[in-house]
Amino acid sequence: MNQFINIAVVGLGQVGIYLLNEIKTKKKDIELKTGKKIKIVAISAKNINKKRKFKVNKKIFFKNPLKIFENIKVDILFEAIGLSDGISKKVVETALKNKIHVITPNKALISKHGDYLAKLAEDNNVNLEFEASVAGGIPILRTIKEGLVTNKISKVYGILNGTSNYILTDMRDSKDSFANVLKRAQKLGYAEPGNPKLDLNGFDAFAKVRILSALAFNTKISKHKCLMEGIEKVESKDIEIANQLNLRIKLLGISQIINGRLFETVHPCLVSKNSYIGNVTGVMNAVIIEGKPVGESILQGEGAGPGPTSSSLLSDLLSILRGNIKKTFWYF
Ligand SMILES: NC(=O)c1ccc[n+]([C@@H]2O[C@H](COP(=O)([O-])OP(=O)(O)OC[C@H]3O[C@@H](n4cnc5c(N)ncnc54)[C@H](OP(=O)(O)O)[C@@H]3O)[C@@H](O)[C@H]2O)c1
Repeated sequence: MNQFINIAVVGLGQVGIYLLNEIKTKKKDIELKTGKKIKIVAISAKNINKKRKFKVNKKIFFKNPLKIFENIKVDILFEAIGLSDGISKKVVETALKNKIHVITPNKALISKHGDYLAKLAEDNNVNLEFEASVAGGIPILRTIKEGLVTNKISKVYGILNGTSNYILTDMRDSKDSFANVLKRAQKLGYAEPGNPKLDLNGFDAFAKVRILSALAFNTKISKHKCLMEGIEKVESKDIEIANQLNLRIKLLGISQIINGRLFETVHPCLVSKNSYIGNVTGVMNAVIIEGKPVGESILQGEGAGPGPTSSSLLSDLLSILRGNIKKTFWYF
């Protein structure tokens, strides 16, 4: 007899709505692959009347997501609101305290409060999963946590911000200025229309580097200062000179152990035109892991967008449904 698993989705924006549509169409597949039947029992967003690309069942809609915990039995909660503090942190905290598994794509939340939330999850014997928080659809966290679990990793690095990579690629191809290319990226939906700063100043990539370090090196999420520089100061002439030298400029996030110490950096790097990373273009992300005994492993794919993000969110869901209840990090 199949078990019913109650699911709540908090945040019905780009990610939350795509996810709900995916869950609806993949229900049978999920049942086949896990033996579990799932049911959406609660959804939450700010505005109940907003037009969305999903038929919202108003009977299970909560304007205040914290009310869900008082009224409904939930087994697994997706947090897709965003930002590191405020309501998203409160929702995740409350869910974990109520022994509800949490899945989130929120890198700002995990890179700031991941240690605390992981401890809460462990104390309550539930999962805190965040595969979608780093490199969108690329299963990089699961690869480190499972596929490469006994390797001694010495370095993880790569292109972790699709917006920056798109802009650098377009500046090279079009020889146009940073400002003009940014406008194009915003029109195409590759850069946030309002405030793209966190993508362009390196902060987004840095949040991902911190999460990668904790998993790759069994450390707490680091609080040190790091060299963090984005692409805002890159000019067309820099790209042109790099080109003449057979080099390309790429924004790389790097986490590595040197002489027993962790170094985390995000900055534009000169890489060879013929290197693998030099040929990762557009909005693509790529992550390279160096470990022993595996050697060098490379994963490439779409680093953002609701589709790739939902792919990772569902991978977390199936992991939980299959009973893979495990530590969030390894250091406790
Ligand atoms: N978009 C991507 O491609 C992508 C990729 C990777 C990771 N992520 C992460 O996914 C998360 C969600 O991103 P998104 O792009 O889907 O954001 P979004 O489109 O801005 O959606 C945010 C949602 O949160 C809801 N919300 C805001 N305040 C709320 C509150 N107090 N109570 C309940 N709901 C509230 C909003 O409600 P209303 O709709 O009613 O305004 C909206 O539905 C973020 O952590 C982001 O970093 C996004």
